[in-house]
Formats: sequence, structure tokens, C-alpha cells
Amino acid sequence: YALAECEKKLQNKVVMITAGPTVEAIDPVRYISNHSSGKMGYALARAAQLEGAEVRLVSGPVSLRDPHGVTTVRVTSAKQMFDYVKSNIADVDVFIGCAAVADYTPVEVASQKIKKNDDEMTLKLKRNPDILAWVGEQQATRFVVGFAAESQSLKEFALKKLQKKKLDLICANDISQQGLGFNSDNNQLLLLYRDGQEKLLDIATKDALAADIMQEIGEHLKQRS
Ligand code: CTP
Ligand code: CA
Repeated sequence: YALAECEKKLQNKVVMITAGPTVEAIDPVRYISNHSSGKMGYALARAAQLEGAEVRLVSGPVSLRDPHGVTTVRVTSAKQMFDYVKSNIADVDVFIGCAAVADYTPVEVASQKIKKNDDEMTLKLKRNPDILAWVGEQQATRFVVGFAAESQSLKEFALKKLQKKKLDLICANDISQQGLGFNSDNNQLLLLYRDGQEKLLDIATKDALAADIMQEIGEHLKQRS
């Protein structure tokens, strides 16, 4: 469907979204990654585009098609995702970190396939950059949104991330609930704002939730200006 021009909430806004997992190579055939279908991030990209925004979607490997009218950039590792974000963030009004970024990456990538030898093997990992926290640190008027998938203490852990990463909004997702999140088409999200406001978006499709989140962001941008 098409929204009338006047109803579009993100006209003239640039929205950048990270989506999907990142994949960290161990050797030419093995990798470390996270569960993530990319569905939520892609739904957000479509919703932002429908609200009139210029959308930049930076995505790890997923089996989803590029959303119509959205600049979609495919990356593999967290480092590649971070490099794209740093190089293309200057004019971004709204940043949404929705990717399941691998927290650690192998210290060394073996150039040849590692052969199995002993009964145990140890892999040395180093921390990846926190892309969302880096964006939050930038002194900008940008609206910064994060996601938090938690298996316990949902609100407490999500609020900690909101503060630590200097976000305006965090969308908290209780992954202990069966049939929600990850590869599912449905989700339930608790929205927690920097100013203490909160809003529970009840179980719905990721497309419906994405539309709600974009409406919410549009309202907050309007209040700011
Ligand atoms: N995130 C990011 N870069 C990272 C790690 C996380 O941009 N290296 C972003 C995610 O896209 C998400 C938010 O930070 O929007 C929270 O990710 P999450 O994995 O829940 O939190 P972490 O800070 O990594 O903490 P932990 O995994 O220990 O719970
Ligand atoms: Ca993490």
C-alpha cells in the first residue's frame, strides 16, 4: 500500500539499519556465528522505506531478498559491518542496530583447513568492536536504537544496555518465550526509552512490529524538532 505523502513520518530522513548475523571465519571451511534470520532488520528497512526514509541496510549473510527501494549492502564479518557503518554514518538521522553481531572473532584465521588431531582443541578469540556502542558515543543529534535479546531479567539487562550504549530506545526481546524471535515470523517487544517511557508491543508479525517501531521513532523525532 502507499501512504499519502503528508502522512509519511520519516520523509527526508536517512535511516541506517544493521541486520542478520555476522560470520567470523576460523579457517576456509569453518566459522563462528549467531542465530539470526535477519527478518526483523529487513522488516524495519521496509517499514522505514514506506515511511519515506532513505534507507541503508547493512546485512550479514541471510536468505532474504533485498527490500525494494532500500540500499542493501551485504557483509560477512563484524569488522566489515563496522567499516561500512563508520564510512556511511555522517548524514544518518536514525540508526537501528538490529544485527546479531558476533561478540568474539578468532585471533587468527587459518589460511588452510585446520586438521583434527587431539580430543580437545582450544580456539583463541578476541572481542569484536561494539558497533552500536560506537554509534551511541558519537556526539550527534542522531536517534539511536538498539535491540536486546535476553533469556532472563529482560527489563533489567535491556535498561543496562540502553544506558551503557547511550541509546534513545531499546527494543527488548524475551528469547525464553517459545515460538518467538529468532527464525520466527512473530515477536513480542518491550520498548524502553532513555527518558523512562516504556511500551509493550504485543505478539505480532515482525512486519507489524516494524511498522509500529517506525511510527514510534517518527513521533519522537517530531517531539525533538
Ligand atoms: N551490538 C553491536 N555490535 C556488537 C554487539 C552488539 O552493534 N559487537 C548491538 C546489537 O546489534 C544489538 C545490541 O548491540 O542492537 C545489543 O546486542 P546484545 O548481543 O544483546 O548485547 P551485548 O552488548 O553484545 O551484550 P551480551 O551479548 O553480553 O548480552
Ligand atoms: Ca552480544
